[in-house]
Amino acid sequence: MTFQVHRVAVIGAGTMGVGIAQAAATAGWHTLLTDARPEILPSALLSIGKTLEGAVTRGKLAADERDRIRERISIVNSIAEASRNADLVIEAVIEDLGVKQGVLAEVARVVSDTALLATNTSSLSVGALAAGLPRPARLVGLHFFNPVHLMRLVEIVIHDLADDSTREDALSVVKALRKEAVVVKDSPGFASSRLGVVLGLEAIRMVEQGVASPADIDRAIELGYNHPMGPLRLTDVVGLDVRLRIAEYLHSTLKEDQYQPPELMRRMVAQGELGKKSGKGFYEWPEG
Ligand code: NAI
Repeated sequence: MTFQVHRVAVIGAGTMGVGIAQAAATAGWHTLLTDARPEILPSALLSIGKTLEGAVTRGKLAADERDRIRERISIVNSIAEASRNADLVIEAVIEDLGVKQGVLAEVARVVSDTALLATNTSSLSVGALAAGLPRPARLVGLHFFNPVHLMRLVEIVIHDLADDSTREDALSVVKALRKEAVVVKDSPGFASSRLGVVLGLEAIRMVEQGVASPADIDRAIELGYNHPMGPLRLTDVVGLDVRLRIAEYLHSTLKEDQYQPPELMRRMVAQGELGKKSGKGFYEWPEG
């Protein structure tokens, strides 16, 4: 029987949580969005409204459908309230094992036995996140890409304790979201982050060594290899802090030099140059 989703909880209303909540509501699901900082929730809703409005302006979405999507999203002040009646819970909090374990433990205390739990981690071990849960078999990695409304891929990450129904349910969720799935074994960085981060880190090392300007390095990859976006602009879009955490994690688990974060990256993060979300990274944002 196909997995039926009616209510979804999205935990974490940052860059990814906002996009995932919008995608869930667009799939027709009642979506509850929460964050440890409840004060950011109204602006999360505004940002979803803006993205939907953009789609209406471009003729991609009917105005009445925009209203229906918007009405399906509610903000709530606690993880328990969001998760209690959810069929699917997706966590998109910061990339920190301890924080994610804490969030999932809180979800597990209230969620139904049949609910599917998903983590949007871009690199952490899904198995390690599952290990502490009462029903580890029901956790899966659903790795969305940024910006969620434009990116078609979702990496489904299957850890050793997951069962077949979890895999099937995850596939049906991705299909209902009208996205494309690839199924990957739980291993550091999965398929996409492991490859993508190496390219990004090497590009930063090249800036550090004065090989070329960020714009020229990006252009080389965009025009020479047909990537839609160069690795430095992509790092700005993802967030330097997010990528730094991923690099540190990959370096500590895979123990290979190519994952060592460059000094320039650490310095920029320390200075608050996080990319698009802070207004400055390798580029000035919004781009002039
Ligand atoms: P973000 O920093 O924009 O948002 C994280 C949100 O989590 C913040 O609003 C924060 O207040 C909230 N949070 C922190 N601790 C919490 C807790 N205990 N309970 C509830 N909320 C809490 O981060 P972003 O970029 O949205 O990343 C979220 C996750 O998605 C990370 O695991 C990241 O690796 C992953 N990811 C990020 C992508 C990107 O391009 N930014 C792409 C794919 C995955």
